Amino acid sequence: MIAIGVDIGGTAVKAGCVDTRTGALIGERLRVDTPHRGGPDAVGEVIAGVVAQLATPGPVGIGFPGPIFHGQIMTAPHLAQSWVGRDAPALFSERLGRECTVINDADAAGYAEMQFGAGQGHSGSVLMLTLGTGIGSALFVDGMLVPNLEFGHIEIDGADAEIAAAARARVTEDLAWEVWARRLSRYIATVDRLLWVDLVILGGEITSESDRFLGVLDVRPPVEIAQLRNAAGVIGAATWAAEQGGKG
Ligand code: BGC
Repeated sequence: MIAIGVDIGGTAVKAGCVDTRTGALIGERLRVDTPHRGGPDAVGEVIAGVVAQLATPGPVGIGFPGPIFHGQIMTAPHLAQSWVGRDAPALFSERLGRECTVINDADAAGYAEMQFGAGQGHSGSVLMLTLGTGIGSALFVDGMLVPNLEFGHIEIDGADAEIAAAARARVTEDLAWEVWARRLSRYIATVDRLLWVDLVILGGEITSESDRFLGVLDVRPPVEIAQLRNAAGVIGAATWAAEQGGKG
């Protein structure tokens, strides 16, 4: 089946058509800036635009940068607060005029990596971390998703961890790769002490520069880079939507 995947990030909205059997992207992947602190109207317009451009029937899956608890948006740290409390599938389905399935963005990326990427065939606990504007986290236990893990927000030195260790921190604070990698190591080590995972998969745009920091990481669990790179979120949202078959 061909499904559309949309990945709403704090910085960019990415979208593409996906062969949900193989996880392959079909055709071009679209990328449009996310309206700064955008609310449902502004971001909804961007999504309607990219979905119209992809011009494909079939399910639409959307990865949202906040926990989606039984369809309800619980927080949206990088977007307008007017998202909070909204029924995500209803909101997007109404805006696009077709059925949409909504999942947390990191859960979507992890879902794709477990099926088609670095997590394939891994049992035990696999933790996907997406490094971007924030830190997204998704946990898989023997391949089953434990949804809405919000480990980007654990406290380290009394502050929200993603502020110091997300990919954005390196850019906004103009950090040397090594300095940022030390922060990331500390972050992974702190999470690992809470979860004791078998594998960590790192995703997000920063994966294209993994040779700059992977060798500097000093952590206990094995760390792999997302094989689907920054497309994992789009691929996961699409395959999730196809799998759910309109369950919301
Ligand atoms: C949000 C997560 C999201 C992550 C990456 C965090 O701030 O709380 O839900 O997965 O950013 O977008």
